[in-house]
Amino acid sequence: MPERQPRLEGKVAIVTGAGTRGEGVGNGKATATLFAREGAKVLLVDLEIERAEETLADIESEGGIASTFQADVTSEADCKALVEAAVERYGRLDILDNNVGNSIRETVTEIDPDTWDDFMALNLKSMMLTSRHAIPHMAESGGGSIINIASIAGVRASKAVAYTTSKAGVIGLTISMAADHGRQGIRVNAIAPGPVYTPMVAWRLSDKMRAHRKNTTMLGTEGTPWDVAWAAVYLASDEARWVTGSVLTVDGGATMRSPHAYMDQ
Ligand SMILES: NC(=O)c1ccc[n+]([C@@H]2O[C@H](COP(=O)([O-])OP(=O)(O)OC[C@H]3O[C@@H](n4cnc5c(N)ncnc54)[C@H](O)[C@@H]3O)[C@@H](O)[C@H]2O)c1
Repeated sequence: MPERQPRLEGKVAIVTGAGTRGEGVGNGKATATLFAREGAKVLLVDLEIERAEETLADIESEGGIASTFQADVTSEADCKALVEAAVERYGRLDILDNNVGNSIRETVTEIDPDTWDDFMALNLKSMMLTSRHAIPHMAESGGGSIINIASIAGVRASKAVAYTTSKAGVIGLTISMAADHGRQGIRVNAIAPGPVYTPMVAWRLSDKMRAHRKNTTMLGTEGTPWDVAWAAVYLASDEARWVTGSVLTVDGGATMRSPHAYMDQ
């Protein structure tokens, strides 16, 4: 059996939100870690630079190559600067993982319209801004892979109207960019994670809610940020060379079940 080659060897990647809020590992941190383990050089972007530095320390302790960059992905100037930093530091750009996102549990009658705008800017516009500056560099070197972190909340009501709306928008953005930039060799895909256990949600979950999330999957198991990260490795790699415009659901089967069946599980 030949020794396995790292799947992202020679590639340069950007991961936004590469730190993790609070204790534990989030989707961005897990993705940046696996990208580095698979041989990519990784720019770790975060608004809270010390969070990105924690990810960097972990990656460097394993011998990986990465560096941090402080940016607010809702700012176009910062998005331009972060792309330029990746190209200046590592000479090219192959992979952009748009991971930053957050939710607020409010209905349209509860949410302040300015808060709505803030969530659209953070969850959706940010991905347009980073892509807008990444695409010309990717096109210059013959192509690339953009991965947008959506959610099953983009196709299911989630008791968080701004989150659901923005994540549905992420899916629209993904298929539009995939169509518009395919002939430049740029693949654009989304990952729709289900109820994975990360610090983003851990703080608001009781043991009962956590068990319920697990039981709503058809596998009856809990998802982790590593499940999301492995999906990102695949979409980033040349193994996915003919995959674009897709939404890869990573949810243990939570969304495939009929809402009125499997009452016994
Ligand atoms: N946990 C789940 O169950 C779940 C399910 C579906 C989708 N998701 C998606 O996963 C993504 C979150 O992943 P995570 O686990 O890495 O979250 P996280 O909150 O742990 O980490 C996100 C990082 O983004 C940084 N950040 C926040 N605002 C920023 C900004 N304006 N500019 C730059 N960085 C900023 C934070 O400082 C933080 O370190 C989101 O897109 C979320 O919608 C999560």
